[in-house]
Amino acid sequence: MVNYKVADISLAEKGREALYIAENKMPVTAKVIRDRFAKEKPLQGITIAGCLHVTKETGNLARTLKAGGAEVYLCGSNPLSTQDDVSAALVEEDINVFAWHGNTDDEFYWCIRQCLDAKPNILIDDGADMIVTAHQEYPDLLANGTIFGCQEETTTGIKRFIAMDKKGVLKVPLFPVNNAKCKNQFDNELGTGQGVISAIYGMHVLFAGKTVVIGGYGHCSSGMALRAKGLGADVIVTEVDPIKALQARFVGYQVMPIKEALPIADIILTATGCKHVIPPTEEAFNLLKEGAILGNLGHFDIEIPTKQLYEYAKEIKPIRSNVEELIFPDGKKIYLLAKGRLANLVLSEGHPSEVMDMSFALQSLMSEYIVKNRTQFKPGIMEIPVDIDDQVGYLKLKSMGIEIDELTEEQYNYIHGYEEGT
Ligand SMILES: NC(=O)c1ccc[n+]([C@@H]2O[C@H](COP(=O)([O-])OP(=O)(O)OC[C@H]3O[C@@H](n4cnc5c(N)ncnc54)[C@H](O)[C@@H]3O)[C@@H](O)[C@H]2O)c1
Repeated sequence: MVNYKVADISLAEKGREALYIAENKMPVTAKVIRDRFAKEKPLQGITIAGCLHVTKETGNLARTLKAGGAEVYLCGSNPLSTQDDVSAALVEEDINVFAWHGNTDDEFYWCIRQCLDAKPNILIDDGADMIVTAHQEYPDLLANGTIFGCQEETTTGIKRFIAMDKKGVLKVPLFPVNNAKCKNQFDNELGTGQGVISAIYGMHVLFAGKTVVIGGYGHCSSGMALRAKGLGADVIVTEVDPIKALQARFVGYQVMPIKEALPIADIILTATGCKHVIPPTEEAFNLLKEGAILGNLGHFDIEIPTKQLYEYAKEIKPIRSNVEELIFPDGKKIYLLAKGRLANLVLSEGHPSEVMDMSFALQSLMSEYIVKNRTQFKPGIMEIPVDIDDQVGYLKLKSMGIEIDELTEEQYNYIHGYEEGT
């Protein structure tokens, strides 16, 4: 019997259409791996719980895990990113879903607990909230070997687990899937890069001729800078890492402290994983330009100081779905996207399916790897096997009809040797 709580089960048909659209663009996860899993059933008897953005792409990951024999539980990893039609459709495919758009903090954790109550063997997290909850509230699950291994999908989650590991409190083998080449060099850069465009699209602003300030120059933010520049914007980067700042400058962007950038920014977009990229002060708010648009694509809603902005504004007017006009005491108006939460997922449908195909192919193959090798792991941060990363790369290329060269034996020996020189 399937367990669930979703917004409206009657949305299932619309959700099936969305899943189908994504499936056709996810040939590695939703075809090659799913077909093999359906034959070989490598996850038979295993329960997997995912705390992920419940989108049409995640739905296809859940279907692939189920095809492999797993009992799948799913909850949302952000209160605003769940696509209610997809949740409903997954329930009809016997996937246990506890997710709806706009849940409160208490409901968010209630959904996580429903998944942990199922005593999962593998946890797939996006932001660390499920695995941290397991540590705080489900010590038995960690102690009695129920959990074989965990996977983390995003940079912010990995940072939290590294901090736990350093303190000696991480009690599970943690696979940082985000750090795989086939994940962060594609999903973070291309996905978030394009996500900026779809997030701003709802505002109908022309990027060309605008000054766009990008907070950070990491995986996500460098992709965002590139796309904004491609649309004709003047891009300014703010950073705290000297090397990243130099990289941004040498690519051709202006680099300056945030306080200098605030008065000239038409659009400010953050993806740093850090809090208060815009300082949470009246002084900083007063520097903002009339009509500035503020959007965050980092994991939590603290990069733009949303709470302090709401407190400072004398009026908050929703002007369209997930966009608010904040009117300051002096009458200045600014526009906040998605209440400071992941603007690409809230205002649009998240990353394109093609790019999530790679992230979720990794999650699928890593689930199989964890089941096969479960007796060999110890608590702590693990490595993603290079051959799994390469396998996803080869499968993706093949699905695109692209072939590449192979090293000859002589070439292999040359690049791995030292004898041959001038
Ligand atoms: N929106 C999405 O769909 C999506 C997708 C992937 C990752 N993420 C999230 O985006 C965030 C960034 O991820 P990433 O992989 O790009 O990380 P990253 O570590 O590659 O890059 C972050 C960059 O931000 C810089 N930075 C840190 N604090 C700063 C500050 N106060 N001001 C300016 N720059 C600062 C760092 O020096 C670094 O260069 C994380 O929260 C991650 O979880 C979101």
